[in-house]
Amino acid sequence: MARQLVIGNWKMHGSVGQIRTVLPELVRAELGANVGVCVPFPYLALAKSLLADTPVQLGAQDVCEFHIGAYTGEVSPAMLADVGCEMVIIGHSERRRYFNETSEMAARKVNAALDGGLLPVYCVGETLEQRQKGVAREIISEELQVLAGVPTSLYTVAYEPAWAVGTGIVATPDQIAEMHDFIKQTLDARTRVLYGGSVKADNAATVLATDGVDGVLVGGAALSATEFLNICRHAR
Ligand code: 13P
Repeated sequence: MARQLVIGNWKMHGSVGQIRTVLPELVRAELGANVGVCVPFPYLALAKSLLADTPVQLGAQDVCEFHIGAYTGEVSPAMLADVGCEMVIIGHSERRRYFNETSEMAARKVNAALDGGLLPVYCVGETLEQRQKGVAREIISEELQVLAGVPTSLYTVAYEPAWAVGTGIVATPDQIAEMHDFIKQTLDARTRVLYGGSVKADNAATVLATDGVDGVLVGGAALSATEFLNICRHAR
């Protein structure tokens, strides 16, 4: 079995100073290629220079669906690859919620990322209301349509229930195992599925030991080198 992935999503946090403090600590820990960090656009080149000569992967948190042109404010897949990114998060619940991103947009971004040679880390997940209504599987199944026809080895899925993101409430092992199984049944048994939502050093062992978990997507806890390294240590 491939090593479990641990990917940090810095979201809109950090500064030159913080990147210069945290990343060298990750480098000193001699992490493997199963670890990745997705920092804000302005810090990607700096992050790449600090991670040079290490297998740690670099990623962005969004990408434009277009390849080039007059799209003020956007960043293309080729630009991400040019500064050394290997992966990009697409369809995060915060992009869906605050920036009205739809699965149709995410589908175009996934294709653009693949054309640019990047690994899409495609996020799916239900809100609390959808879970309570019993429609979580329908929502996720719709979101997974984005990946129809894409060979499973070319992407990673992150199951991030919106009610667990940034709330301190981590889904239970049963909830995680059930949804990861559903995602693998819907796509392909070999699909890599990460869990995201309030993963911290003190619950990482439990989450990473859960059936069907191929890694974790870590938000807040990725901003502290100590916390993030403690999560990485639990990857099997
Ligand atoms: P938290 O770990 O802060 O809950 O965020 C999870 C997440 O959204 C990762 O993409």
